[in-house]
Amino acid sequence: MVNTQKTLLTDNMYCLGIESTADDFGVGITKSNGEILANTVESYIPIEGGIHPREAARHHAEVANKTLFQALTDAKIKPKDLTVIAFSMGPGLGPCLRTGATVARTLAAYLQIPLIGVNHSIAHIEIGKLKTGVTDPVTLYASGGNTMVTAFEFKRYRVFGETLDIALGNCLDVFGRQAGLKSQKNLPLGAAIEQLARKGETLITLPYVVKGMDLSLSGLLTAAITQLQKGNHTLEDTCYSLQEHAFAMVTEVTERALAHTEKKEVLLTGGVAANKRLQEMLRAVTEEHDAKFNVVPQKFATDNGAMIAWTGILAYTHGIVTPVDESYVKLRWRVDRADVPWIN
Ligand code: ATP
Ligand code: FE2
Repeated sequence: MVNTQKTLLTDNMYCLGIESTADDFGVGITKSNGEILANTVESYIPIEGGIHPREAARHHAEVANKTLFQALTDAKIKPKDLTVIAFSMGPGLGPCLRTGATVARTLAAYLQIPLIGVNHSIAHIEIGKLKTGVTDPVTLYASGGNTMVTAFEFKRYRVFGETLDIALGNCLDVFGRQAGLKSQKNLPLGAAIEQLARKGETLITLPYVVKGMDLSLSGLLTAAITQLQKGNHTLEDTCYSLQEHAFAMVTEVTERALAHTEKKEVLLTGGVAANKRLQEMLRAVTEEHDAKFNVVPQKFATDNGAMIAWTGILAYTHGIVTPVDESYVKLRWRVDRADVPWIN
């Protein structure tokens, strides 16, 4: 049963958001005025290789209880103060999404409050807007699992360009592992590559593939790994060349979307947004178009529960709820298939 009394209290609502699309299990608590009261994240770090979805899901189930408890403690509220529960409904890895969805359904049912399934990619954009103050940006969302350029047009967020194969962060991570770099809690592989790239001096020519508004990174990755194995160049030069080619591709696609839409703001988000060289390239093209460049602060650019909670607030205050029997996860939920009634 839905507690209808609470739905009327739009000024002072609390939404708890659960993020579990991939390797992170995050819980955020956000107020309807945009205040973020909690944003706690537990990350699954594979012992070796990339993410194993079932292992990550097992991790999420194990940490769910303490992460929820921590978020409520940080927010200094009680479960009964919550108005609504939001969760990442997709896109993402099935076992991981289902673990988060199960926790969300259980909480909503126990507290007798509404449930909202949130589109993860849209949540990245909405928290970015909240945290930087931009209102109508062209967004580049570049992470381990996603690389897309979106903007709002004709009632929906539209995808203007995207990777045709692997994501930018994944490209960096696979290369990093091949180079023998190890992922650490405070130094993701992309950041380790960034440090090495800064010492690079010679640009090696590698494949540069932009097809229309889309791009492809797998040929670049293979070529960079081949260079590494041949041993003709330093690791620093190879990292530098990989970054220059990959970042130029995403920058070109973002610039085209900016020119097409004539928007006045660019927003960079996702884990790769932390990269200073990527920021520099994007800033340069944005400013050439007399637009403003914004980067989402890191703890809100990587996967986090606060972005789900905030998008849950936006959705709930605009009439969206997700009945439990329709709350199945959507592994390939594209941004242009999600309603965003909070934007005019
Ligand atoms: P999603 O589910 O949205 O695809 P994700 O699970 O990949 O997200 P994020 O934390 O958003 O998680 O992104 C992680 C990616 O960001 C990794 O590929 C990591 O190597 C990359 N990354 C982190 N810091 C940097 C950096 N300084 N430069 C480049 N890449 C970075
Ligand atoms: Fe993400």
